[in-house]
Amino acid sequence: HRKYRPAPRIDLKERRWPDRTIDKAPRWASVDLRDGNQALLEPMSVEQKQRLWQVLVETGFKEIEVGFPSASQPDYDFVRWLIDENRIPADVTVQVLVQAREELIQKTFDALDGVHRAIVHVYNSTSTVQRERVFERDREGIKAIAVQGAEWLRREAARHPNTEWVFQYSPESFSNTEMDYAVEVCDAVLEAWEPTAMHPCIINLPATVESATPNVFADQVEYFCTHISRREAVVVSVHTHNDRGSAVAAAEMALLAGADRVEGTLLGNGERTGNTDLVTMAMNLYSQGVDPELDLSRPDHIIQVYSECTGLPVHPRHPWVGELVYTAFSGSHQDAIRKCLNRQQPDEPWQVAYLPIDPHDLGRDYQAVIRVNSQSGKGGVAFVLERDYGLRIPRWMQVELARVVQQASESQPGEVDSAAIHGLFLEHFVRE
Ligand code: KIV
Ligand code: ZN
Repeated sequence: HRKYRPAPRIDLKERRWPDRTIDKAPRWASVDLRDGNQALLEPMSVEQKQRLWQVLVETGFKEIEVGFPSASQPDYDFVRWLIDENRIPADVTVQVLVQAREELIQKTFDALDGVHRAIVHVYNSTSTVQRERVFERDREGIKAIAVQGAEWLRREAARHPNTEWVFQYSPESFSNTEMDYAVEVCDAVLEAWEPTAMHPCIINLPATVESATPNVFADQVEYFCTHISRREAVVVSVHTHNDRGSAVAAAEMALLAGADRVEGTLLGNGERTGNTDLVTMAMNLYSQGVDPELDLSRPDHIIQVYSECTGLPVHPRHPWVGELVYTAFSGSHQDAIRKCLNRQQPDEPWQVAYLPIDPHDLGRDYQAVIRVNSQSGKGGVAFVLERDYGLRIPRWMQVELARVVQQASESQPGEVDSAAIHGLFLEHFVRE
C-alpha cells in the first residue's frame, strides 16, 4: 500500500549510539473514531464516521477502534453499518470500547453480532485518585471490577462462538497508578483470560493524563513488561495523551522500553490536548529510514477529510504535514536549499539542508519551498526566476535584484510573489 519511496538516509546499524533506536514500525491502532470523537464539541455523525473510516483504511490501519457502541446510539449504528454492509476488509480488525459493567458488555457483544473478528476493549480506572476519590474503593475492590469485567467478556465471547475474539484490557490512568499494583491488576485479568502465545490478548497502558516526562512513562512501561506474567501471551500497547506536549515522545520511548503497539489518532485529535499523533510518529520513523507501514503520501487528503469530519483545523506548522513546514522565507535558508536542490540527484539519498525529507514524498511540490518577503535574499529570488521563468542570472544580478525586492517588500509588507519578482527583474535589468 505504501506509495511513497522509502528514504533510508541514516544507516541505523552504523550507529554506535544511542544503543536503542526504533528500527521497525509498531502495531498501530487508530482511536480516531472513539477517543478522537469523544473529544469533539459536536461528535461525528454516522456519515462522518464512515468517511473518516474510509481514510483510516486507505492509510493502512489494521486495527481501528470504532466507538463505544453500548454508550452511544450513533456508535452502535456505525458498528452495525460496518458489519451489515460488509465494510470491514479481511485484514482489518475493528475494536470497541466498553466499561467493566455487565449490561454494557452484553450490549457491546450484541452490537458486534456477526462480525468476523473483533477486539473488545474493557477498562476501569486504577490510579490512587480514581480509587479514593471517584470509586471510593480500595485496591482489592478496584481489582475485583477488572476481574469481573474480564470474566463477563469471556462469558459473552463464548456465547458468540462464530467470531474470532481478541480481548483488550486497559488499567485506565495506568501512569498514575503504583506500578506493582498495575501489574497485580493486569495479572489477575490475565488469569481470567488465560491467553497463550498463539492466542494473545492486549494490555493497553494509558497515560490518561500526561503528568511526567516521557522517560518516566518509559520506565513504567519497562517495569510493566519485565514484571507482567505471561509476557509471551500479551501484546503490550500504549495509549498516551498530550497534556504536557510529549505524547509522541512518550510513545516512542515506550517502544524503546518494550511496548509492541501504539494507539493514537490522525494529527493528534483526542481528549483535551489530544492523543499521540500517529501521522507525526509515522513520519518520524519514515524520516529515519524506517518503513512506517502506513501510507501518508497524500496528507492533504487526510487533512481535508479530518477537518471536515472533526471540524478542527490543522496548524500550518504542524510537524511534517502543515502547510508551511517546507517553506523557507529567510535568505540564508533559501540559498542553502537552492544549492542543495540543484545538486540533488534523483536516485541518491535525500540531502537538502533545512528540508528533512523530500516534500514530493508527501505530494507537495517545490512551489511552496521558497517564498519571498523582506527576510529573503539572493538565493530566494534566483530560485524563483529559475523555477518559474527558466532564467539563470549571474551572482551580481542576484545580489542586486534581492536588494530591489527587499526594498519593495519593505514599502509594501508581506510576500512578494513570483510575478512581482519577475516584473522587478524586467524593470531593473532589461532594456526595452
Ligand atoms: O485515555 C484513556 O485512558 C483511554 C482509555 C479508555 C484507554 O482512552
Ligand atoms: Zn484516551
